[in-house]
Amino acid sequence: MAISLLQKYNIPGPRYTSYPTVPYWEDATFSKEKWLESFKKSFYESNQKEGISLYIHLPFCENLCTFCACHKHITKKHAHEEVYIDLVLKEWELYTDLVDERPIIKEIHLGGGTPTFFTPSNLSKLINGLFEKAIRHADYEFSFEGHPNNTTKEHLQTLYDLGFTRVSFGVQDYDDKVQEAINRIQPFENVEKVTKWAREIGYNSVSHDLIFGLPFQTRDNVAQTITKTKKLQPDRISFYSYAHVPWVKGTRQRGFNEEDLPKTDEKRALYELGKQMLDELGYIEVGMDHFALKTDSLFKATEYKTLHRNFMGYTANKTQLMIGLGMSSISDSWYGFAQNEKSLKKYTEIVSEGEIPVFRGHLLNEEDLIIRKHILNIMCHFETSWEDEHLKFKGIDKTLELLEEIKNDGLVRIEGERLIVSEHARPFVRNICMAFDLRLQENKPETKLFSMTI
Ligand SMILES: C[S@@+](CC[C@H](N)C(=O)[O-])C[C@H]1O[C@@H](n2cnc3c(N)ncnc32)[C@H](O)[C@@H]1O
Ligand code: SF4
Repeated sequence: MAISLLQKYNIPGPRYTSYPTVPYWEDATFSKEKWLESFKKSFYESNQKEGISLYIHLPFCENLCTFCACHKHITKKHAHEEVYIDLVLKEWELYTDLVDERPIIKEIHLGGGTPTFFTPSNLSKLINGLFEKAIRHADYEFSFEGHPNNTTKEHLQTLYDLGFTRVSFGVQDYDDKVQEAINRIQPFENVEKVTKWAREIGYNSVSHDLIFGLPFQTRDNVAQTITKTKKLQPDRISFYSYAHVPWVKGTRQRGFNEEDLPKTDEKRALYELGKQMLDELGYIEVGMDHFALKTDSLFKATEYKTLHRNFMGYTANKTQLMIGLGMSSISDSWYGFAQNEKSLKKYTEIVSEGEIPVFRGHLLNEEDLIIRKHILNIMCHFETSWEDEHLKFKGIDKTLELLEEIKNDGLVRIEGERLIVSEHARPFVRNICMAFDLRLQENKPETKLFSMTI
C-alpha cells in the first residue's frame, strides 16, 4: 500500500456503529417521550416477527487498563453488584410495562466493563430476572465478554446453563512490555485456561480480541501474539485498530506517551502483517476489524448477506429493535437512537425514581434512514447500490462528487449506480462511508471527536 495514500486517508473518522454518529444527533428535536413512541412502534412491528435484542452494560472493572476506550467504572467494591442488577431489572420493567405483549428475546449481549466482575449467581439472577417479563425466541443467541484474568469455570458453566453459547475474551497483545504499558498483565496460560474451559463446556463460538497499534507494539509482537492465538484456534478474532481518544471523558488513557505509539505507516504494517497471518490460518475478514473461521456464524452471515452492525459491533442476528440497559447503553429502534445516563450516580438516581434513564438521542429523518442503509451495506458487505428509487437520497450528488476522488485513488469501483469497495481498500472503509455521511460533510468538527481511520 502506497504510504502517500495511507497518509492522505489517515484522518479522524467515525467507526459507524450508528448513522447519524453520536456527535451529530439532533438533541433539539429529541425527547424521551418521542423515544418511547419510537420504541413502541418498533416493538409492535418486530417483536412477533423476529424478536428483540438486549445489550446490557456491566461497567465495573477491578483495574484500569490504560488503553481502554470503553465506559467503565473502576472499583474493587463488589457490593455494587446486587444494587446494579436490581437497577437494570427495574429499567427493564419500565420498558416492559409500556407494552402489552411479552418481549421475545432473540439476542442478549453482556458487555462492559467486565461482566465477569459479577459473581455467577448474580449473573444468574440478572438473566432469570429478565425472563420473568419475557420469553425466549426459538432461535436465540446469547453472548458475553469475559476477562481472562477473572473468568471462572463456574461463570462459564452458569452462563452456558442459562443459554449462552458465545464468549469473547480480551487478549490485546501477549508481549510483556506492551502489557506493562497498558497496565494489563495477562499471561497466555490464563487465556488458554478459559478458552479450553469454554470449549469443554460446549460454547460453539469463542472469540479473542486483539489490538494493533498499542504502545511499544512491534511487528514481532503482533506475529508472536497471532502465533500464540493460533494454538487456541478461536472461532472469531477481532483485530481492532487501537483507538487513541484521550480527550474522551472517563477513558483515562495514560501510562504511555504519544511517541510510544506506532506511527501511521508502522501501524498499517502491523495490520497488514496480522491480516496476512490470519489469512494463512484460514480466518476470513468479515466487515471491519473482524475475522472468522468458515464454520462460525459470523462468516455464514456474510455468505447469506445477513451481517448487521450496531452498537455491539457486528452481529449475525439482525433485529429491528435493540434495547440497551445499564449506564451509558445505547438503544436502537431503527427509527431512533437513545443513550442512557453515562455516570453510575445519575443512572442510579433516575432509575430509582422510576424513570427511563435516557438523556439524549436522535430520531432519524427519511434521508438519515436511506443513508444509514448505504453505510450498513458498505460496512457489512463492502458494496452498495442506489439503483432502486427508494435508495436515492437528496444529497446524493454531493456523495458522488466526493466519491470521484476515492474512485481515482482506486479505493472503489463505480459500475452504473453500484459501488464496490476494492479488495485492497478494506482498511479505508470508514473513509468511504464518510462520503455518504452528509451530516459530517455539512458540519466538519472543529474539535477532536473521532479516532484516526487507519
Ligand atoms: C469491554 S472490553 C472486553 C471485556 C473485558 N473488560 C476485558 O478487558 O477483557 C471490549 C474490548 O474492546 C477493545 N477495546 C477497548 N479499548 C479499545 C481501544 N482504545 N481501541 C481499540 N479497541 C479497544 C478491547 O479489545 C477489549 O477487549
Ligand atoms: S479493557 Fe476491559 S478490563 Fe480493562 S478497563 Fe477496559 S473494560 Fe475494564
